[in-house]
Amino acid sequence: MKKRIAVINGDGIGPEVTKQAVRVLDAVAHQFNHQFDYQYCLMGAVAIDETGSPLPQETIDICLDADAILFGAIGHPKYDNDPGSKVRPEQGLLGLRKALQLYANIRPIFSNPSLQHLTPFKSKQLENVDFVIFRELTGGIYFGKKELSEDKTRAVDECVYTTAEIERIAHLAFQFAQKPERKKKLTLVDKANVLETSRLWRKVVAEIAKQYPDVKVEYLFVDNAAMQIILNPKQFDVILTENMFGDIISDEASVLAGSLGMLPSASVGNGPVLFEPIHGSYPQAAGKDIANPIGSILSAAMMLEHFGLAQEAELIKDAVNWTLTNGFVTKDIDPVNFYFTSTIGELISDYVMNKIPGKINKDNIELRKSTII
Ligand code: IPM
Ligand code: MG
Repeated sequence: MKKRIAVINGDGIGPEVTKQAVRVLDAVAHQFNHQFDYQYCLMGAVAIDETGSPLPQETIDICLDADAILFGAIGHPKYDNDPGSKVRPEQGLLGLRKALQLYANIRPIFSNPSLQHLTPFKSKQLENVDFVIFRELTGGIYFGKKELSEDKTRAVDECVYTTAEIERIAHLAFQFAQKPERKKKLTLVDKANVLETSRLWRKVVAEIAKQYPDVKVEYLFVDNAAMQIILNPKQFDVILTENMFGDIISDEASVLAGSLGMLPSASVGNGPVLFEPIHGSYPQAAGKDIANPIGSILSAAMMLEHFGLAQEAELIKDAVNWTLTNGFVTKDIDPVNFYFTSTIGELISDYVMNKIPGKINKDNIELRKSTII
């Protein structure tokens, strides 16, 4: 198979983790005789520095032309600390989501048994945790009118949703809940006791639910959902929610997985699909080779699934599990005994190329372990 992949490294740890995902994709290409051609393009703070714009037109053109997009991370402290800044890296990502109409962000949340002791949860709580968040991505408060009064004492962010925007992602979420491997349950997370937009979500979702009689629907206010995700996460199967609630609860849910660095996502629209880890640019770790590349590597696996390469995607997941069960983890997961970003990427790509296990030279890997005094 031959595919064109647009690669956007972005900011902070974006380039390092994406490099490992590309390395693993190359291993898959080598092993299964595929050809992946990468086209690199700029977005975020790095794009502002080089071109003045967080999302150059060239990037949009390359992405529109690609079969899929692999994206790293976005954001830079120099903008976070300057609320007055007119141009911001995040505008690049939001602009790309809008330009490609990537209206559904799909975030699978899973717990890996070998990491459970490293989470703040009791292992029992994490048994059978396997749910997927469908986060609306191109509407709501993120994209509503923004205003700051002239005297800068009053600010407005408008939250708007239309029936059509709710319908298209709701259908995707219901269809996903119907898959044989799912539990046929959909939970709409909203704030319908307060927000008009949430009441519209409930009305539209209740109507659509009639077309999916095999899927059980539940409604949960977001404040309660935030608590339930921690208290009893295995009750969830598919969570459907609007843009900002989805942003918040997915970071929260990542704690179940052991680290925010573990989780991949796919952003789906009508054109090319974008794959990205759910974590941010983590500037404190940039350039140190300590970031967790697994969110990005699993995003590459999701990309392969999307291409119909199920076996290849499974192999990547097996490789990831193999590293985790053998204790090859990055610093976010184990701050004492950790391995470098590049070592994890190398191990996973070696596994994909059948160079492990058996032939593994544990001493060599030990040498590449970080030593903390
Ligand atoms: C995410 C991120 C982005 C978002 C930021 C970087 C704009 O937090 O993808 O979850 O809020 O959507
Ligand atoms: Mg987020």
